[in-house]
Amino acid sequence: MNKIEVKVCLGTTCFVMGAANLQELIETVPQKYGDKVDVSGHPCLGLCSINWEYSKAPYVKVDDEIISEATVEKVLNVIERKLKDEHQ
Ligand code: FES
Repeated sequence: MNKIEVKVCLGTTCFVMGAANLQELIETVPQKYGDKVDVSGHPCLGLCSINWEYSKAPYVKVDDEIISEATVEKVLNVIERKLKDEHQ
């Protein structure tokens, strides 16, 4: 089974738009999912600059899936869904 990879953007735009709360994931995810999920913080993922005016920062990537206006809850839901999908 491949690990699910979670990348939390800690770039300036995402930080200003609320990514500070998402740093909680860096502690919570390993506690909850052990080594099934890798979580790490990254500088700007380049998503905020695609369309600044309509930016939906903060962003988190879960494997190839981009989560915009990310919250801890949204990210955990995607992880749960992916873990379930892998077991079917
Ligand atoms: S600062 Fe997060 S995508 Fe640019």
